[in-house]
Amino acid sequence: MKVRKAVIPAAGLGTRMLPATKTVPKEMLPLVDKPVIQYIIEEAVASGIEDILIVTNRAKSAMDDYFDYYPELETRLNQAGKDKELYAVRRAADLANIFYVRQKETKGLGHAIWRAKRFVGDEPFAVLLGDDIMRSSKPVTLQLVEAAEKYGSSALGVQQVSTEAISKYSSVQIGPLEDRIFSVFDMNEKPAPTEMFSNYAILGRYVLTPGIFEILENLKPGYGGEIQLTDGLRELCRVDRMVAVDFEGRRYDTGNLRGFLEATLDFALEHPETGAWLADYLKHRAAGLER
Ligand code: UTP
Repeated sequence: MKVRKAVIPAAGLGTRMLPATKTVPKEMLPLVDKPVIQYIIEEAVASGIEDILIVTNRAKSAMDDYFDYYPELETRLNQAGKDKELYAVRRAADLANIFYVRQKETKGLGHAIWRAKRFVGDEPFAVLLGDDIMRSSKPVTLQLVEAAEKYGSSALGVQQVSTEAISKYSSVQIGPLEDRIFSVFDMNEKPAPTEMFSNYAILGRYVLTPGIFEILENLKPGYGGEIQLTDGLRELCRVDRMVAVDFEGRRYDTGNLRGFLEATLDFALEHPETGAWLADYLKHRAAGLER
């Protein structure tokens, strides 16, 4: 089994980042010098993915434009000798084979994934949530792809979170398999601490077998009245093998203000053009000094 395709659901309303996301898709907010979605596409490409489907909606066409050529701008940059900018603009458009499908109604993450059925066909595929960014030495999607290919199964990216935090995520019931890899038996969406299976939460990355589509097609709305991917995965793990990978890396939820600001600061501190300057600026600020 080989994972060649990825789906990026990016059709959510982004209500946690309003008013900024009223007209700018949250996936297009810049993290230092690139939009959030570009980091996600880069992770997929670095994981060996060839074709990528972004699930969008009518308010998100800025994403299609971003990954397209822009001849007028490119000619101007070329004439002005701005090679670095020209390269950056072109590179975004040449990153991968990117396809789009619209989710016409915001019916939940499970429904958004179901829209990928025709694109995916009969192959396993990766899912990268459009607002979760990962920082890791080995791409998180690749960590999952390797486990999925080894076990011929679906794979979920998980990490331990605190008992207070688990109610924001899906908790998985697992058993040991090998270092950092577990068998998955069950899961539940946003459980109260008394109902959680474990402290392992699913965090924004998946490799799924195509059997998920038939399940999603027949799924009733669940938590929050939405078609929940977790409800579909719960059925999938009963009929098909599924593993969880305690992935190495740090996850940033850029769909909420704090996660977005943490990512912005960390990425800017590591960026060659801004790192030293920002560290110095923060030091002065903390000391209450004028610069
Ligand atoms: P989130 O709950 O994080 O995103 O969904 P949201 O709905 O945009 O955010 P808030 O809560 O209103 O701020 C997880 C992922 O599922 C996608 C989102 O775009 C995000 O990548 N999603 C969610 C869809 O594609 N369609 C949906 O109907 C719901």
